[in-house]
Amino acid sequence: MPVDSHFPHLLAPLDLGFTTLKNRVLMGSMHTGLEDHKKDYPKLAAYFAERAAGEVGLIVTGGIAPGLRGSLSPSPSGLFNRLQVSRHKLISSAVHQEGGKVACKYCMVAVIAITL
Ligand SMILES: Cc1cc2nc3c(=O)[nH]c(=O)nc-3n(C[C@H](O)[C@H](O)[C@H](O)COP(=O)(O)O)c2cc1C
Repeated sequence: MPVDSHFPHLLAPLDLGFTTLKNRVLMGSMHTGLEDHKKDYPKLAAYFAERAAGEVGLIVTGGIAPGLRGSLSPSPSGLFNRLQVSRHKLISSAVHQEGGKVACKYCMVAVIAITL
């Protein structure tokens, strides 16, 4: 990827103190639908690993509910039980293998809708 002179630091590593990103390219949180079914996690891990291999420094996950009451679907994906945590390790391991980092963003839209 050519370094645009407007963004001279884009491909430089970023030391956040607790971790270092290989560059400053961030993939925003996008719900793909694959998050909603356990069987699709290997596919989701492969999808994110490809982005990490393609030099995304930090991937932000989408479609993750903060709890059952804030879920987006009847079979929500979240990080509120151990099974879901082990599923997510498929994703983080695949991304780490490609030198990337992944952050989980809870989708708050449903929570806001419920509180209103
Ligand atoms: C297909 C699609 C799925 C998205 N899914 C999520 C999501 O699950 N969680 C979330 O917080 N934001 C989600 N977003 C919002 C994006 O992360 C981003 O905040 C939004 O698109 C605004 O950025 P932009 O102006 O660069 O498009 C989604 C956006 C798109 C286009």
